[in-house]
Amino acid sequence: MGRLNKLPPYLFSAMDKAKAEALAMGVEVVDLGIGDPDRPTPAALVEIMAAAVADPDFHRYPAQRGSAALRQAISAWLFQRHQVTVDPETQVLVLIGSKEGLGHLPTTCVEEGDNVLVPDLGYPVYGQATLLAGGEPRLFSLVAERGFLPDIAELGRLADDRTRLIFLNYPNNPSGAVADKAFWQRMVAFTTERDIRLVNDAAYLEVVPGGRAALSLLSVADPTRDRVIELHSLSKMFNMTGWRIAFAAGHPQLIGDLARVKESMDSGVFAAVQETATHALGEMFDDLLKGVMAAYPQRRRVINNALGKMGVEVFASAATFYVWAKVPTDESSIDFCGRALREIGTVITPGLGFGTGGEGWFRISLTASDEDINEGARRLGEWI
Ligand SMILES: Cc1ncc(COP(=O)(O)O)c(C=O)c1O
Repeated sequence: MGRLNKLPPYLFSAMDKAKAEALAMGVEVVDLGIGDPDRPTPAALVEIMAAAVADPDFHRYPAQRGSAALRQAISAWLFQRHQVTVDPETQVLVLIGSKEGLGHLPTTCVEEGDNVLVPDLGYPVYGQATLLAGGEPRLFSLVAERGFLPDIAELGRLADDRTRLIFLNYPNNPSGAVADKAFWQRMVAFTTERDIRLVNDAAYLEVVPGGRAALSLLSVADPTRDRVIELHSLSKMFNMTGWRIAFAAGHPQLIGDLARVKESMDSGVFAAVQETATHALGEMFDDLLKGVMAAYPQRRRVINNALGKMGVEVFASAATFYVWAKVPTDESSIDFCGRALREIGTVITPGLGFGTGGEGWFRISLTASDEDINEGARRLGEWI
């Protein structure tokens, strides 16, 4: 079977279609499905961008690995924020969104017959990029009983001498689970012993209340010695999902290999966007982040209260901007979410969309407006 044909069907398209049908019928749909911040990029960043766009210096092809100024700013930010030391020349790479980096990573090291360990509850790109590179995704489970962290004994059973990579994502979409230092230490020991590259998708690392941050893998591992790479994204940090800017930091070989693949695929991020990112990670960072993250705690309380009224069990976490909750009936997650749309005009995401490990769960995103969050909560609270 060709690689393209191995890609699984996109489960969310059925949900999108059902939503479009409901809208066409005049239903006032409240969409708590998509994880895309409702609020605009902070005005201070839009202003920097506007000036940069007008500057012809930024109109030409950008520097392939990212501008020297941005790589320097990333390195300084990693040190200040996460006490991580990386060389901006060899250990930092600017990406066109973290999805792009994740999508290209398997191409750096996977040959036909190789395999990659992929969480069976997670962002679909890890497995799909593995398939497109000709590798075999081997799924490991993430379950509530273990706080949605992998069982290292299971990883040990799945891994063999053709295992090239393991994808992890903490803080985790969709569960909100976070990884602590002891967990990262165990993972680094496991992957070092087996010579497997360890990837953390850190798209939600800063999406934690109060402008704090979750623990970076790079602060536990030694990114000069250990074969680790972490992908950070400005998308959720600064309500910049449409701008397409992120970065990878880690072991020089992994960064260098990814840069080589990208050299054949793309020509970098618009230099004006890089200029804006350079400022965002500098002195403005703390204030910007606090402003962006301030919206979520109250929204989470509103949704958790409504779910509490429904008798729904929620996985306790304040990280990410998702609420991960158990389907309270004996329906499948798809049937339950389909019924929510039909009966109360509310879009929520079935757990199955994140892999079979998500069955029995559903996800609510806190990236809708306060008004929609309140209305969605009201509808849910009065449902079943
Ligand atoms: C877990 C996870 N990783 C990565 C991404 C991609 O983010 P971006 O490409 O905007 O950096 C997303 C987007 O929703 C995500 O949920």
